Amino acid sequence: MSKAYLEQNKQRFLDELIELLKIPSISADSAYAKDVRKAAEMLAKRVGEAGIPTVEIVDTPGHPIVYGEKIIDPDLPTVLVYGHYDVQPPDPVDLWDSPPFEPVIKKTDIHPDGAIFARGACDDKGQMYMHVKALEILNQTNSLPCNVKLMIEGEEEVGSVNLAWFLKNHKSRLGCDVILISDTGIIANDTPSVCVGLRGLSYVEVEVTGPNRDLHSGLYGGAVANPLNMLAKMIASLHNEKGQITVKGFYDDVEVLSDDMRAEMAKAPFSLERYKNSIGIPAVFGEEGFSVNERTSIRPTLDVNGMWGGYIGEGAKTVIPSKAYAKISMRLVPFQDPEKITQLFTDHFKSIAPEGVTVKVTPHHGGMPYVAPTDTPGYQAASDAMEAAYGKKPIPVRSGGSIPIVSLFEHELGAKSILMGFGLDSDAIHSPNEHYGLFNYFTGIETITRFYPNFVKYNREG
Ligand code: BES
Ligand code: MN
Ligand code: MN
Repeated sequence: MSKAYLEQNKQRFLDELIELLKIPSISADSAYAKDVRKAAEMLAKRVGEAGIPTVEIVDTPGHPIVYGEKIIDPDLPTVLVYGHYDVQPPDPVDLWDSPPFEPVIKKTDIHPDGAIFARGACDDKGQMYMHVKALEILNQTNSLPCNVKLMIEGEEEVGSVNLAWFLKNHKSRLGCDVILISDTGIIANDTPSVCVGLRGLSYVEVEVTGPNRDLHSGLYGGAVANPLNMLAKMIASLHNEKGQITVKGFYDDVEVLSDDMRAEMAKAPFSLERYKNSIGIPAVFGEEGFSVNERTSIRPTLDVNGMWGGYIGEGAKTVIPSKAYAKISMRLVPFQDPEKITQLFTDHFKSIAPEGVTVKVTPHHGGMPYVAPTDTPGYQAASDAMEAAYGKKPIPVRSGGSIPIVSLFEHELGAKSILMGFGLDSDAIHSPNEHYGLFNYFTGIETITRFYPNFVKYNREG
């Protein structure tokens, strides 16, 4: 019944997503604030059309939240769907093969049925919109078995500051038994998985100041500590020869996994050759004693995201810059605390500043890591739904990415999140030529429709 509805409406489901992808809802750039709102309005309209009777656009000091609910019986369980309709900036735009907000469908080796190329196709408009369509199917076929609430924000890519406020102030309204999110990935289209962990994040900007003005590098060079040289040296010292992070106390709270758990993780299929080829690197890199999979999931990291200062224009200008800058992210794992890590980093970074320069550290947004247990009604419902849709039981996998609001959901609403995402690592989220497979979109919709009855069943049993 619901599968037939999906088959009959595929083209429209795709057309509607394409329409949403055409709106450049870039949350980071205030020049696009009108477009962000336009996306919220289109989404709210679609949520209503999907048979959700109460839909609101909730204004915040930043971008709006689209909130909807359908309560069929207060005694039945409630699923809260979370997603985001904002997208990352498309830069660098000239590296896109087609304009980022003019979606096109193309076949690729990994997506022989075709994929939609557009900013937000996978992260997260495509994945979020699968939920709207799954709810349309359940409503239209009279098979929604429980209550549902939707909370779709426009600020995930900039730290979810106003959603945190919304959560804290609308706790009772947001009451639920489980939170369902599609904003992560699977291992491969023939290897389904359910995400059971997210890394936390501490993000800082550092500023190194030397002389009070830019100097002639001939007249002063040799006698003045160059802030860019110093910054490079300081950053290089943040890892030792074993690939470990040298910030004092950095590993103190890191969860140590048992050998059994690591052996279990190692069962997930992985090809080192394919990994290297897919991103064009001759060799992998990282912390001694850990596999690639472990390095990107259960181990913390420290990476420079950008570094600048001095002259970067055309040609050559001989100058010793007054200032040098870098943006640094640290991905965190249980039980590291982002605030504590930010403090440790700040103290350490200041302590290693060479004589002749001063250092300023400014924290940006952060977030706690998250781990989901697999012995819950929500996980079992997701696992069975995936097994039915893919014909294979999914593997639980911890991801390296971060969705900071997820740990806050647990803290504020007392509910666990099920991270049932459908993207592939190769879908190029945040990069040029982001895309999302049509197979993933439609199989995702099917999986989500299957989740609901499963959840009601397991919730009753549990
Ligand atoms: N959806 C991603 C996170 C993600 C992607 C988790 C794939 C697991 C697998 C999310 O939109 C994102 O980009 N998060 C940011 C953090 C945020 C504070 C900007 C990230 O991970 O860098
Ligand atoms: Mn996302
Ligand atoms: Mn993202």
